[in-house]
Amino acid sequence: MSQKNKCLTKIAVLAFVMSTASAAFSAETVNVKMPKELTAQAQWGAMAFDTNCAACHGKNGSGTDSGPPLIHDTYNPGHHGDEAFYRAMNSGVQQHHWPYGNMPAQTQIKPDLAKKIVKFVREVQQENGIVFKPHRM
Ligand code: HEC
Repeated sequence: MSQKNKCLTKIAVLAFVMSTASAAFSAETVNVKMPKELTAQAQWGAMAFDTNCAACHGKNGSGTDSGPPLIHDTYNPGHHGDEAFYRAMNSGVQQHHWPYGNMPAQTQIKPDLAKKIVKFVREVQQENGIVFKPHRM
């Protein structure tokens, strides 16, 4: 085999390994479009989100390999209403929708701030076309 062919074979093997690795665990991230303006409440929520949620849920809820994107149809208000957000922060979440593991409770977030975080997520969702859809499951 020529030197060049050996090299191409290595690239092909590497590409194959990488594609199977990502198939075994496919972290999903989204390109989040930010609204031009957030309401004052949502701006506070954005700061709190950055500090408390973004490590797993990504900047502006775009997702990371430790947690799902929240700017995602799964979390439209018809499927995960505001209550689901409060419950997640108060009690944590058992892994059920995704392969990332459990979400630990975020009890450092007081109810008033939780409300602002949800407001932030909803405003960004709306900008990205994620709106109420009735839950049929
Ligand atoms: C240590 C990582 C981590 C942190 C920090 C974290 N989450 Fe999560 N969160 C997760 C994971 C993982 C899931 C997905 C669980 C599943 O459905 O499999 C999740 C799921 C959720 C859900 C969906 C709940 C449901 O009913 O399915 C909401 C809402 C949520 N997170 C909001 C937040 C908010 C708001 C914060 C910040 C206050 C936050 N999370 C911080 C990891 C995290």
